[in-house]
Amino acid sequence: DQSVLTDQLGRPLRDLRLSVTDRCNLRCTYCMPKEVFGPDFAFLPKSELLSFEELERLSRLFVASGVNKLRITGGEPLLRRGLPELIGRLVAIEGVQDIAMTTNGLLLPRLAADLKAAGLKRVTVSLDSLDPEVFGRMNGLGVHPDKVLDGIEAALVAGLGVKVNTVVQRGVNDASLGELWHALKDKAVLRFIEFMDVGNHNGWNLDAVVPPREVLAQLGSEFVPVGANYRGEVATRYTDAQGHEAGLITSVSSPFCGDCTRARLSAVGVLYTCLFATGGLDLRSPLREGQSDAQLRELLAQTWSVRRDRYSEERGEATERGKATGLIRQKVEMSHIGG
Ligand code: GTP
Ligand code: 5AD
Ligand code: SF4
Ligand code: SF4
Repeated sequence: DQSVLTDQLGRPLRDLRLSVTDRCNLRCTYCMPKEVFGPDFAFLPKSELLSFEELERLSRLFVASGVNKLRITGGEPLLRRGLPELIGRLVAIEGVQDIAMTTNGLLLPRLAADLKAAGLKRVTVSLDSLDPEVFGRMNGLGVHPDKVLDGIEAALVAGLGVKVNTVVQRGVNDASLGELWHALKDKAVLRFIEFMDVGNHNGWNLDAVVPPREVLAQLGSEFVPVGANYRGEVATRYTDAQGHEAGLITSVSSPFCGDCTRARLSAVGVLYTCLFATGGLDLRSPLREGQSDAQLRELLAQTWSVRRDRYSEERGEATERGKATGLIRQKVEMSHIGG
């Protein structure tokens, strides 16, 4: 009895991204810079986080409202204890056609087999460079890329599909993209993401964004464009002569808000209708106050039906008017909604 919600711009609710923790064991400069997320930073206490029961219940309500695809995010989702149990609960929801996870990969050697056994089909692993010096600087803690490669291997051995997300920053890792591509193209589908002005602390600057043509040139293969896998796919896909796939996620140079079907739920149960939202709808309070499924679904319907978010397009329009610094507003942190 699924009824698909549609927003003010005609966009259906199809994807739900669930953040399960705001913590991370890396400090990527563009996401959780260590100057801000230092030793004294107050992360959320466990009691504030949605329990697995609560995550399952809300997921069911979203699925009943149109969602058919789930993605687990963080922070770093594998820091949440017992995560395979949550996967098992979500996989069992009728109507869920796809469930994926975005992770930095560091804990996959320990957890990949359990995740696969619980029903996870695939992971997206973030890895920005194979140059130890470059990656160490970008992840803020000097962690060696071999640690992430070990995680990718563990996922493959466990039978999980693997995608790799690479955030591209001019003058930081753009010169080492070719090395990454050639080392991983046989094992994974690669995604190159334009550096975005998410959150409030990442020092975003339009000059650091590398447009798609330059990224492809850095990879050093001949590419042909291939169409989208499904409507609303965020990546523009290309393959080389052997069929290896690279996708470009151009949310700055060519925003894709027109097809955006994604909702995001923070670890404390706030629903955000855009990655760049300034605020969201608290679902945890009504949940914990004992509202019925019907009442909670009504809240979802009200929120999605008034949605008009198209931040990346608006930022693009502002940039054309000569404001290259992003729109000034206090946005939700990436570590709260996981990208
Ligand atoms: P699948 O097709 O599900 O495998 O996803 P994908 O690999 O095509 O993309 P995924 O959903 O993993 O998103 C990859 C990255 O793109 C995210 O980590 C974000 O950085 C960025 N991204 C995803 N969705 C959005 C969005 O709605 N808006 C913007 N601006 N960026 C997004
Ligand atoms: N710009 C682009 N991508 C980002 N990510 C995190 N912060 C940014 C940013 N400022 C990516 C990470 C990861 C996913 C969660 O989002 O690299 O792959
Ligand atoms: Fe952690 Fe991912 Fe953010 Fe890096 S991008 S700090 S790995 S949550
Ligand atoms: Fe969707 Fe907001 Fe990203 Fe546009 S900027 S694609 S509306 S999440």
